[in-house]
Amino acid sequence: MEKLRVGVLASGRGSNLQAILDRSIAGEIDVEVAIVLSDVEDAPALSLAKTAGVPAIHVPPGRFRTKLEPEIEKQYIDILLAHGVEVVALAGFMRVLHDDFLNAFPGKVVNIHPSLLPAFPGLNVQKKAIDHGVKWSGATVHFVNAGVDSGPIILQAAVPVLDDDTPDILAARILVEEHRIYAQALQLMAEGRINLDGRRVRVGPAPAEGELR
Ligand code: GRF
Repeated sequence: MEKLRVGVLASGRGSNLQAILDRSIAGEIDVEVAIVLSDVEDAPALSLAKTAGVPAIHVPPGRFRTKLEPEIEKQYIDILLAHGVEVVALAGFMRVLHDDFLNAFPGKVVNIHPSLLPAFPGLNVQKKAIDHGVKWSGATVHFVNAGVDSGPIILQAAVPVLDDDTPDILAARILVEEHRIYAQALQLMAEGRINLDGRRVRVGPAPAEGELR
């Protein structure tokens, strides 16, 4: 099968990126990480990409704190397109993307979030889950839309929240599931099996030879 060309945007540690790289290099998923972009110059994710032989570029975000300057968002789009990116995977990318970006990759921008959405969007969500007293939390892979962590849900995995959990302990338990379902979701996209019906994502059979994925 032709490999799905994925561009990863990451601001930090890069463990989800590494999980995707590992499975891609091992041939477990039909995904090629074509380019990694970061708004943070010393993001470990950039070094992880370089170590794996993947082009990795720091593109400074401009003067805003939670978004990219419009001109710079355009640079991100241009670089991704120049690398033949079909799907954009956000992996700990700490900035909101706008319509121009989403329209450049319609239905092809995905994110991983460490809660069972729609519960606990935003930041520090493991602490919020513990403080709220939920008994289960987990990970969500979803399409990105104009809101924050509010797009259609592709895959979720649940983990228990235990009495002695700290945010760090819970985060580590969730992270194992993030790594698993993010790669799984990308593989489903590579197989052309993700169908969007309103807000509902249905996993269908692989399209016949010659049909578009
Ligand atoms: C992950 O918990 C992800 O769900 C959230 O940011 C964190 C990124 O971690 N969006 P990493 O950089 O992939 O290790």
